[in-house]
Amino acid sequence: MEIYLLSVILASILVIPFALKTCSPYVWKDIQYFGDLVRILVKFVLRRRRRPFFFVLDRFLEQTAAHPHKLFIVFEKESYTYAHTDKRSNKIANALQAHRGYRAGDSVALFMGNEPAFVFTWLALAKLGSPVALLNHNIRTKSLLHCFNCCKAKVLIAASELKEAVEDVLPSLTEHGVTVLLMTKHCDTPGIEGFSEKVDEASDAALPRSLRSDITFKSAAVYIYTSGTTGLPKAAVVNQNRLLTALAVLSSNGVNPSDVIYVNLPLYHTAGFIIGFIGSIETGSTIILKRKFSASQFWDDCRKYNVTVVQYIGEVMRYLCSTPKKDKDKDHKVRLAIGNGIRAEIWREFLNRFGDIQIREFYASTEGNVGFVNYAGKIGAIGRVNFFHRRLFPYTLVKYDTEQDEPIRDANGLCMEAPKGETGLLVSKITDIAPFVGYAQNEEQTERKRLRDVFKKGDLYFNTGDLMRIDQDNFIYFQDRVGDTYRWKGENVATTEVSDILTISECLKEANVYGVQVPGHEGRIGMAAVTVNKDAQFDGSKIYNHVVSYLPSYARPRFIRIQNAVEVTGTFKQMKVKLVEENFDPGRIQDPLYILDDSAKSYVPLTTLVYSSIISGNIKL
Ligand SMILES: *[C@@H]1O[C@H](CO)[C@@H](O)[C@H](O)[C@H]1NC(C)=O
Repeated sequence: MEIYLLSVILASILVIPFALKTCSPYVWKDIQYFGDLVRILVKFVLRRRRRPFFFVLDRFLEQTAAHPHKLFIVFEKESYTYAHTDKRSNKIANALQAHRGYRAGDSVALFMGNEPAFVFTWLALAKLGSPVALLNHNIRTKSLLHCFNCCKAKVLIAASELKEAVEDVLPSLTEHGVTVLLMTKHCDTPGIEGFSEKVDEASDAALPRSLRSDITFKSAAVYIYTSGTTGLPKAAVVNQNRLLTALAVLSSNGVNPSDVIYVNLPLYHTAGFIIGFIGSIETGSTIILKRKFSASQFWDDCRKYNVTVVQYIGEVMRYLCSTPKKDKDKDHKVRLAIGNGIRAEIWREFLNRFGDIQIREFYASTEGNVGFVNYAGKIGAIGRVNFFHRRLFPYTLVKYDTEQDEPIRDANGLCMEAPKGETGLLVSKITDIAPFVGYAQNEEQTERKRLRDVFKKGDLYFNTGDLMRIDQDNFIYFQDRVGDTYRWKGENVATTEVSDILTISECLKEANVYGVQVPGHEGRIGMAAVTVNKDAQFDGSKIYNHVVSYLPSYARPRFIRIQNAVEVTGTFKQMKVKLVEENFDPGRIQDPLYILDDSAKSYVPLTTLVYSSIISGNIKL
């Protein structure tokens, strides 16, 4: 692998003079990016060569030794230096090691919201050589058990406020001999042990390295659960190698030790854990940890703590832009926002309103083997085709049939590359340096993400499930998730697009758009579950006029369902599956339902009579 890397780097250096001759205005940025890639790779290769093995934990220990008294975590009224964090995690590790129900190296599930103990416990488990499953603290009952069982954990460590959620699944945990520890002093529930007193009493001495001597780069480090939007979550295995590469995510974007990083996304997901937390370990920065994202506190926090780097997902930026404007909107020290999913129009609005902040939009997935970063700052793009990057990570867009939900294949059964300007499915070759580890205990879902016979019989690619487009200037644009489109009257409708149009109307706050099936019709017809702005009324004819002026007829949502709140997952992804199932049946849905009525030029209430006429085919849509 190293030889391969070196040869690619050498070959690439020889190519630079030619690249310079091409007159792309971005050539210097491309070369800079190439320089960054080389630096990251060299650092990674050197670390991989170190003996004993060098893991993310060792980077944390290096930072602690370098500046023990520097603040690492600030949370509400508490703050912890690197040394304090190190000692606190030693205590947890020592308390665990003394416990009968645990042996160093056992898998442990962590069920906790964003708080310092999350970080301490993860570090403790890293010191003991245990893989950690990062459970989403919003899940309950069946889903919680499913996630727990995916990682074969022997121990569950939960935050005290999640006691009831743990009690719900306790019989099954007890039956399987799981040790259940609650971060509280005492717990009366039989089968759940209060753990914090043991931690307080435990020694804060460092743990011997021998405890983790069995760990290799292939060992699972964390399990991160992905995609709660369809079916049950899957546990993506993040191994030590991957975690080591993840160290570069912030440093490669210019984050340095003097930066203060605002982490307000859940630590159980990639954005909060890998980018925010692991990224900060590499840079040795200070983390301002928030229990959860709050649009109203966001800028006040940034001012109070002198935050310089913030993380986002698209929804965060949208929420921030929809807060009431203030005079001090530009009064802060934030210089960099790093994240994923910001829309072009929100991007512009954000810069206008909050000032000169560098936005580093990137594309990556927890389990995927290819990522991009928009290093050229082109609004709306997620990245740029870079010769060197593509040599290292051979990815392609292939033509995709959204109706059949599969790649289009030629007469020989091979995929076809989508030409520039056309939307295609992003697939990336699975190689030694771009591996796909898969999901724990779920070979079926793992296999589903593998795509074979792409350009040659027998080759193997990772199917990202994301539709992208590359423009003539080589910028890459995210188009949609496979499945986030539906087809109606022979046309593809992108749900995000419709939802964006709906939410710029006066009265609607949020819109979750999906397609529902209608008997006697091909494809799916558009439906939107919406919330109405505070102090506003749903005005059927206004929305009708808005929709008609912005959307082609096939893309107009035929049905509107008014909800008090749009259901979202922990990372604000909208839940669709249940809504799709409930369809537009007024007999099943308590929420007010409206139907688009062209003759009345309005959205009018959907009656049971109209509903049954649609179902019986008397009304054609
Ligand atoms: C933020 O920066 C200002 C000015 O540089 C300084 O006076 C203040 O103490 C800083 N606040 C924190 C929380 O570091």
